[in-house]
Amino acid sequence: MAQEVRVKNIGLRGVAVADTKISYIDGERGILIYRGYRIEELAEKTTFPEVAYLLLKGRLPGRAQLEEFSEMLVNSREIPPYVLESFRTLPREGDPMDVLQGVVPLLALSDPELQDESREANERKALRLIARLPAVIAAWNRIRQGEDPLPPDDSLTHAGNFLWQLTGKKPSEDMARDLDVCLILHADHTFNASTFACREVVSTQAHMYAGVSAGVGALSGALHGGANARVMQMLEQVEKEIHSLDEVEDWVRRRIDAHEKIMGMGHAVYKTDDPRSKILRVMSKRLGEKTGYEKWYQLLTRIEKVATEEFEKKGKTGIKCNVDFYSGSVYAMMGIPRDIMTPVFAISRISGWCAHILEEKFGEAQGKPALYRPQAEYVGDYCGEIGCVFQPLEERET
Ligand SMILES: CC(C)(COP(=O)(O)OP(=O)(O)OC[C@H]1O[C@@H](n2cnc3c(N)ncnc32)[C@H](O)[C@@H]1OP(=O)(O)O)[C@@H](O)C(=O)NCCC(=O)NCCS
Repeated sequence: MAQEVRVKNIGLRGVAVADTKISYIDGERGILIYRGYRIEELAEKTTFPEVAYLLLKGRLPGRAQLEEFSEMLVNSREIPPYVLESFRTLPREGDPMDVLQGVVPLLALSDPELQDESREANERKALRLIARLPAVIAAWNRIRQGEDPLPPDDSLTHAGNFLWQLTGKKPSEDMARDLDVCLILHADHTFNASTFACREVVSTQAHMYAGVSAGVGALSGALHGGANARVMQMLEQVEKEIHSLDEVEDWVRRRIDAHEKIMGMGHAVYKTDDPRSKILRVMSKRLGEKTGYEKWYQLLTRIEKVATEEFEKKGKTGIKCNVDFYSGSVYAMMGIPRDIMTPVFAISRISGWCAHILEEKFGEAQGKPALYRPQAEYVGDYCGEIGCVFQPLEERET
């Protein structure tokens, strides 16, 4: 068949597939806003529960509303006993992102409002998910080490309690606040791969948990949320292979020349500095000085400088640090194990996923919900209307 060759936007780059009121990125100017507010201002002046409220409900909460929302978060974090029991039967070496993806539908099984598709019920499901995912990750981390999950400490913030339940150490107020800021920074990012996966799934009228489970799967990939842990892996590799900071330059060049990715750099939308990475760079430096792990910050800034210059020399402009470049080092300095770094991304992004699921389910940005059903250009075999000559199994060559 004579095929008409059409230019396609591979990976849907630059294609607007829906309207949204939740967040916006200006990739040329390095601007990110949630519901109209600049990320820098939210990171400085709000808390993660406040941002989750903003994303879900479309407005910042008043004091009483925030208190009620935070209390509901605290009261919703208990994990059903059958989930904890199932954890004890799982292989301990299981990747926490796989565990998380599998546990989300398990949580659906006991949601009392699973079949209630009103906005109010879906908001409450969102709240339960935001409350429970951190508890699930912390519990899995304990159980895989042969320890019992720790009870929550209601005197701590959402972020602080996660650190406590995960590590068994009560974090300082500063450390809890740093994680809180990280959660704010990762909460939403328009139509990234995982958010699109959530929206696509619920556009079929599947429930919120089905959408979130798909989102966790998409986030686990190395080109998406999995990049933060891979940055730390890359740092470990650099540390093994070089003896002084001066050797970083050669190491980076060799890697780029071998067409290997510098993890945590480059972005499908930002062609300038990611505003989130600027905040995380400062945090990584400050935590490095405080904890004595300055080596990571020093290595990262060196890699960033050399890689940026190399990319520019090769005419690949706009490959700058993304959110994952410095976040891994920040999490490591908080005592978060490497394979829990992408789950930390998930316990923040759950707020954005749920906001997008609500927007999708109720057609809030474009007037009415619509099932996603794009087309693909068929480029396979075609033998005319009658189809290709069919050979019975026994006549086919092996
Ligand atoms: C995120 C990412 C997939 C965005 O990619 P994109 O905008 O679609 O751009 P492409 O992957 O098509 O890259 C364009 C070119 O730049 C190169 N490039 C992009 N990011 C690079 C990186 N981090 N290291 C080395 N080269 C990179 C590509 O190899 C490609 O080179 P080529 O034209 O010679 O094949 C990509 O930058 C990447 O893989 N980054 C590393 C993983 C990461 O940090 N992911 C987290 C994203 S928040």
